[in-house]
Amino acid sequence: MARITLAILILGCCTCAVWSVNDRLREVYSWRQLDFTFPDQMTRQAAIASGEYVQANNLPLGLEVWRDKLFITVPRWKAGVASTLNYVSLGSGSNQNRSPRLVPYPNYAMNRLPSSGQRSTDRIINTYRLSIDVCDRLWVIDMGIANGTKVGQPQLYVFDLNTDRVIRQYVVAENLMRADGNTWFPGLVADADRKSCDRAYAYLPDIGGGLMVYDYRRNSMRRIDHHYFYFDPLATVFNIGGVRIEWPDGMFGVGLSERRRDGYRTLYFQAMSSTRMFSVDTRVLQSNATVRETFDEYHHLGHRPAGMQAGPMTTDQATGTVFYALVNQDAVGCFNPRRHDRLSADTSAVVAQDPETLEFPADLKVDFDSNLWVLSDRMPRHRFQVLNFDTDDVNYRVFRAPVADVIRDTVCESQPTGGDGSRPPSRPDQPSRPQRPNVATNSMGWNTPGDKRSDFD
Ligand SMILES: *[C@@H]1O[C@H](CO)[C@@H](O)[C@H](O)[C@H]1NC(C)=O
Ligand SMILES: *[C@@H]1O[C@H](CO)[C@@H](O)[C@H](O)[C@H]1NC(C)=O
Repeated sequence: MARITLAILILGCCTCAVWSVNDRLREVYSWRQLDFTFPDQMTRQAAIASGEYVQANNLPLGLEVWRDKLFITVPRWKAGVASTLNYVSLGSGSNQNRSPRLVPYPNYAMNRLPSSGQRSTDRIINTYRLSIDVCDRLWVIDMGIANGTKVGQPQLYVFDLNTDRVIRQYVVAENLMRADGNTWFPGLVADADRKSCDRAYAYLPDIGGGLMVYDYRRNSMRRIDHHYFYFDPLATVFNIGGVRIEWPDGMFGVGLSERRRDGYRTLYFQAMSSTRMFSVDTRVLQSNATVRETFDEYHHLGHRPAGMQAGPMTTDQATGTVFYALVNQDAVGCFNPRRHDRLSADTSAVVAQDPETLEFPADLKVDFDSNLWVLSDRMPRHRFQVLNFDTDDVNYRVFRAPVADVIRDTVCESQPTGGDGSRPPSRPDQPSRPQRPNVATNSMGWNTPGDKRSDFD
């Protein structure tokens, strides 16, 4: 009985803190189904005839923004995806069309699946979430799997957006991936220094419980395994758009703070099947130190109430705000680490929620002009309950709003006084931790040593 009351209180509280999506996010594009710009009409007809393009199987998932290009990925979960890496033009003139066709990037040929005898490494097979850095480069992780079949190894592509050329292609070595086959890269975040573009890194979450660090200068990748990269076994059940799913998804969302004077940043991260958020300094990630040496450099920041799992994450460099997709709530949340670096009701809020238009917020990004972009796509119905997916309904949407408008009058707007704003406040009154036992495992509880339960339970 007490539990039921508590549940009602929590639910009631969530509802009262929520605004309708239209108050904060503006819908800029929407589609019933996706279409593409093919090289010509004959190619399009041939692709339909051969099954290379099955319109209903094309679902948008990831987005990124650079100048007048809005990049949109279409994963090859099913057969018939015409092109996995695409963009639409944001430029004036064409912005009359609210359901534009996707333009394959860098071209259609590179996005076609190889037929037998063709090299898979010349193609972009399957992309999810993207990252664009301050040096006008697009970073893409390609899983290499199409319609459940392995076509090639996972590859990291880097494009020069000014020339649309591939300037780096890195094949992820087999020994960096989980031996049980559970490695999957749901996205990545690039970390580049405007003053020295060669000094760049990409951090790639492995949903199976890892973090890959790619060093652009050395063209090398290393894998980090930390206990914080796993899912919470009690947070694996989702109910999205009427579909119940059990997802054992570990490491998923990554976001970077602004660069500090010492050149490093804070990487925020979270597992999809979890309500917890964590952080680590990029200095730790870029060093060669082992996890054993740096275990305590990874920080637990707190957690949201049960049911508020979040996957995709993005950060605003101007305000320091962390945004995340509350996939199980049809909502977008924010966290204000400049107010306090502990995730709680005092530092986080739901900024948009709508069961219809935000059903499965699949990706979000803050662009370089501090606009928040959100893509929603009803993915669980599309993948797992296709009979309840109506191709005549508006299913895919892209929203945009200035970050300042999104966080206005929420805890994500206010900042602490006195600070220079360049660095989150250090963790206050942190209890001195007991000496860590000299063993690698702690099987006895979910809370970390020194973890104080907050009023955000
Ligand atoms: C896609 O995968 C399904 C399920 O394995 C299979 O039945 C189908 O033939 C595949 N389609 C193509 C075009 O490979
Ligand atoms: C890490 O190791 C590489 C290769 O062994 C070395 O060149 C580099 O200087 C090391 N980096 C750091 C930060 O120690």
